[in-house]
Amino acid sequence: MQSDRKAVRENWGSRLGFVLAAAGSAIGLGNVWRFPYVLGENGGFAFLLVYLCCVVLIGLPIMGAEMVIGRGSRRNPFGAFKALLPGSAWWLVGAIGIVTGVIILSYYNVVAGWTLAYLFRSLTGLVSGFTGPDSAELAYESFVSDSAQVVIYLFLFAVLGILVVAQGVKGGIERWAKILMPTLFLLLLLLIGRSLTLEGSGDGLAFLFAPDFSKINGDVILMAMGQAFYSLSLGMGVMITYGSYLDNRTNIFSSAGTVAGLDALIAVLAGVAIFPAVFAMGMEPSSGFGLTYQVLPMVFAKLPLSDVLSSLFFLLLTIAALTSAISLLEVMVSFATDELHWTRARATIIMAAFAFVVGVPSALSFGVWSDVTVFGLGFFGVADYITANVLLPLGGIGIAVFAGWAWGRGVKQEILLGSNQETLYYVWLWSVRILAPIAVALILIFNFV
Ligand code: PFF
Repeated sequence: MQSDRKAVRENWGSRLGFVLAAAGSAIGLGNVWRFPYVLGENGGFAFLLVYLCCVVLIGLPIMGAEMVIGRGSRRNPFGAFKALLPGSAWWLVGAIGIVTGVIILSYYNVVAGWTLAYLFRSLTGLVSGFTGPDSAELAYESFVSDSAQVVIYLFLFAVLGILVVAQGVKGGIERWAKILMPTLFLLLLLLIGRSLTLEGSGDGLAFLFAPDFSKINGDVILMAMGQAFYSLSLGMGVMITYGSYLDNRTNIFSSAGTVAGLDALIAVLAGVAIFPAVFAMGMEPSSGFGLTYQVLPMVFAKLPLSDVLSSLFFLLLTIAALTSAISLLEVMVSFATDELHWTRARATIIMAAFAFVVGVPSALSFGVWSDVTVFGLGFFGVADYITANVLLPLGGIGIAVFAGWAWGRGVKQEILLGSNQETLYYVWLWSVRILAPIAVALILIFNFV
């Protein structure tokens, strides 16, 4: 029986569109600048095995839980818990998720704005101007501390997000995912082609993959879990929101599997695009801002067609950031349209403006507000730390426990719609009941002792 609620809600146009949009959310800055380095530093192939275990044993069950909560309620994360268990306090998990989303979007947009700036600057010959060893470092430092520029690019990137999300789920998010994700893949293949044909690229592959099982210890396992969580966009309701636009014929198990598989594949391929070139050019590997805005521009500077390569790379990174940012914005927009009954256009503009305003202190924390710190971290650092290390894992536990214990019988019927794989259901059920919450609780505890 279809309720009115189910009938009026917009749906994805196709399963492929949904999978690409969800993969677009998962594949983001985290895949490009963090995963490859963490892989190389922590045991290579040995770390990859640990990471994949975390994805399969913890990430996948929680992703399935989010999707089924979304589809079962056809609501935003806040409304979903209210609709599935009226009168309980579970809506708090959704509410915390939405707040987490606002914070992540606010600082994510800042770095996405830098990326956009580097794209424009590469197109206009930034990189070929790097001749001395410090030039990229100086260019980076003067850029991120230039408040006006950084805020302008933050604004421009927010506008890109608005343009996509305002067009709706099918006409905006899905349509753009279908264009942007294949483009991203193509760009990545191009960069891999360049990187692997450089003399000395084998050292980069050795850095990435050479197995070193002696590096695997408790800390490394926890790091792998945290990375899996962040990279799969879990714990704050992105997959609840995207799941809420699913029809009953979609197989949640295989969809979640495809999304997680694509995410891991792109993370590994990003490493293959980056580190062989870094090593071939005799640079030191690193991660984060240092890698993206300093080491890589210097690597490009040493190669023919440096500005072209740099433009392609920053285009790739802008695309990866955009499809993740729109998923965060959509969480807020679905809340405003469902609960506050705003129109999509209004919700998109107001929510994006809100995230922009919240993001300004993060943007300024590399410049005029660099002195404002808490525990040694600026606004940006605090926002990143609290969301990734506290709020996402907490949300993940809440989601797993809700799906596994609180929801009750309804969950079985809902998740088996479109799949009918009962054995898989029991495997999933016991993962969200026991394995995932305990493992995630361990991340939280070990982070603070
Ligand atoms: N998964 C994104 C990345 O790897 O860059 C980041 C992210 C997006 C995290 C959405 C959390 C989220 F809800």
